[in-house]
Amino acid sequence: MMKFTKIAVAAALALVSTMTLAAGDAAAGKAKFAMCQGCHGANGVSPNPQLNPTLAGKDAAYVKEQLNAFRSGKRDNATMKAMAAGLTDADVENLAAYIATLKP
Ligand code: HEC
Repeated sequence: MMKFTKIAVAAALALVSTMTLAAGDAAAGKAKFAMCQGCHGANGVSPNPQLNPTLAGKDAAYVKEQLNAFRSGKRDNATMKAMAAGLTDADVENLAAYIATLKP
């Protein structure tokens, strides 16, 4: 019984640390967002939403999915494809974590 409890606690801790890693680093994402602001606005609120969508208010899972779709070409947009092409998997996680903190 004691042994089982220890294993369960270790498994739970391992799961929590994996989830924290997968969530991305919002501070690193903020630094990376410097290259996005020109179109999407300083706080993710676009000054010209007809042209470039507002990103504030979009959740991390959605942003991550769209960035990966631009990277793969599944979502076809020349501008965003060029922007997303230079991003690593970690950049995508971090940007998604940061964008999810922005208020519309
Ligand atoms: C030169 C202007 C420009 C820059 C710079 C730019 N974007 Fe975009 N972005 C766009 C446009 C235009 C769209 C709309 C694409 C479409 O119609 O499919 C878009 C769409 C998006 C979307 C999808 C939004 C939605 O509502 O589905 C995300 C997410 C996004 N951009 C993130 C970023 C990130 C992160 C960066 C910086 C790494 C960035 N963009 C830099 C112009 C830009």
